[in-house]
Amino acid sequence: MIEVKIPKTQEEWDSYYDLRYRILREPLGKERGSERNDGDENGIHFALVDGKKFIAVARLDHVDQAICQARFVAVESDLQGKGYGREIMTALENKAERLGYSTMILHARDYALAFYEKLGYKLVGPSYKLFDVLQHFEMFKPLTHRE
Ligand SMILES: CC(C)(COP(=O)(O)OP(=O)(O)OC[C@H]1O[C@@H](n2cnc3c(N)ncnc32)[C@H](O)[C@@H]1OP(=O)(O)O)[C@@H](O)C(=O)NCCC(=O)NCCS
Repeated sequence: MIEVKIPKTQEEWDSYYDLRYRILREPLGKERGSERNDGDENGIHFALVDGKKFIAVARLDHVDQAICQARFVAVESDLQGKGYGREIMTALENKAERLGYSTMILHARDYALAFYEKLGYKLVGPSYKLFDVLQHFEMFKPLTHRE
């Protein structure tokens, strides 16, 4: 059974960061450890799991009273394009709504723009370059009255 959960055991945390590393950092030639940052302490972590297998991961960050941010969204490489990215983003959005946030923002890699547009996110414009090479684009989505 596929379910959304927050990692709890050491084994689950290892699988969580391993997936984040392999999908978001290893292809950029970065070392292990580079997939973590200070925000991991306060962010809300989500994992889509099938038994012990981690399918997708994502983190929800507080920005201010009205705004939260999706970060480190990653789907296992051989399971992309099967709706799991949408599923974990829906879990983040539902949680964000329950916590009282009215807007979700994110910074998307260029090749993920079309995915987020499908999910109803609007492009604001170019934001930062990760490691000085990978251009990101700021996007937002109002969380109330969404489809
Ligand atoms: C980007 C990513 C999170 C999307 O998750 P996914 O599980 O592959 O996407 P889904 O299957 O849930 O797709 C949802 C919809 O978006 C579309 N979509 C997904 N990726 C797309 C892309 N690159 N271009 C165009 N459309 C895309 C799907 O076709 C689907 O449309 P549909 O509902 O009309 O069928 C995932 O592919 C991934 O982890 N990629 C590598 C890491 C990454 O880029 N992370 C985001 C960093 S900002």
